[in-house]
Amino acid sequence: RWTPAKIAEETIERVRAQVGEDHVLLGLSGGVDSAVVAALLHQAIGEQLICVFVDNGLLRAGEADQVMATFARHMGVRVVKVDAEERFLARLAGVDDPEQKRKRIGNTFIEVFEQEAARHPEVRWLAQGTIYPDVIESAGARTGKAKVIKSHHNVGGLPERMQLKLLEPLRELFKDEVRKLGLELGLPADMVYRHPFPGPGLGVRILGEVHKDYADRLRLADAIFIEELRRAGLYDQVSQAFAVFLPVRSVGVVGDNRQYAHVIALRAVETIDFMTARWAELPYDFLAQVSHRIVNEVAGISRVVYDVTGKPPGTIEWE
Ligand code: XMP
Repeated sequence: RWTPAKIAEETIERVRAQVGEDHVLLGLSGGVDSAVVAALLHQAIGEQLICVFVDNGLLRAGEADQVMATFARHMGVRVVKVDAEERFLARLAGVDDPEQKRKRIGNTFIEVFEQEAARHPEVRWLAQGTIYPDVIESAGARTGKAKVIKSHHNVGGLPERMQLKLLEPLRELFKDEVRKLGLELGLPADMVYRHPFPGPGLGVRILGEVHKDYADRLRLADAIFIEELRRAGLYDQVSQAFAVFLPVRSVGVVGDNRQYAHVIALRAVETIDFMTARWAELPYDFLAQVSHRIVNEVAGISRVVYDVTGKPPGTIEWE
């Protein structure tokens, strides 16, 4: 019978037999899958695991700190944090096409990751958080976007170029199994049940050209939205929720002053498989509270709108 404890035990044994005394490199993204791989490998091979966490400047509020606190401080995992915000923003300067932005972010990620890997010549394996649905997805014919998702998240092509063997301990598991395994391995529930976050991060939630001050404002607005969802007990009732930065300006009156400032859109969806989705019917008083807080607490935002588009015809992300 499948129990998380049994899966953990078996997988740990298998990993030990597979890698022996070798060193393993893992890119931590802040997402569930790579987090579970980190916890698993840490138990299996301890100091032989080296994690790399790239702060690309497009993460959610507090994300880098949370990853470092959970893995480095609490669990004692070896995590190297690379501060690459400036590099990513420089590579994104002047680029407004969504697919082009995805490509640049993906390529910069690989660059940074390879550079970091070069500092650890003892490494023989690259671990990835590939799960069973990823395996199926890349086997079938898929849209361009799905391939981009794969190639960024799971750094496709990298192991060959770096002459590393690939370690994918979650390959046979479904998402809910991965989550249960994560809890079994001692990961905090709020990390395990976190909404998905795209590899390109806020890069595709700032429409058009990415600027640092846009990212900072979006981070703040998004954090308010998520905090209020948690406070209202709504976070786990939606599948994914986030704020989007719209670089159009709208007139408003904030305090006693007329403002000509940017717009934040809120998006919350309910879905099983993320292939189709319904917009979440969040209570009006809840939306009013979030809107009120964002306009008052985030400088440069004068208006908040709620996205009432399903998928299809919309996508979940705005880019
Ligand atoms: P869409 O916008 O296509 O999103 O309806 C479906 C799910 O995929 C996520 N998503 C991405 N994830 N890289 C990722 O790793 C990407 O480029 C990407 N684009 C969308 C999105 O957040 C949603 O969960």
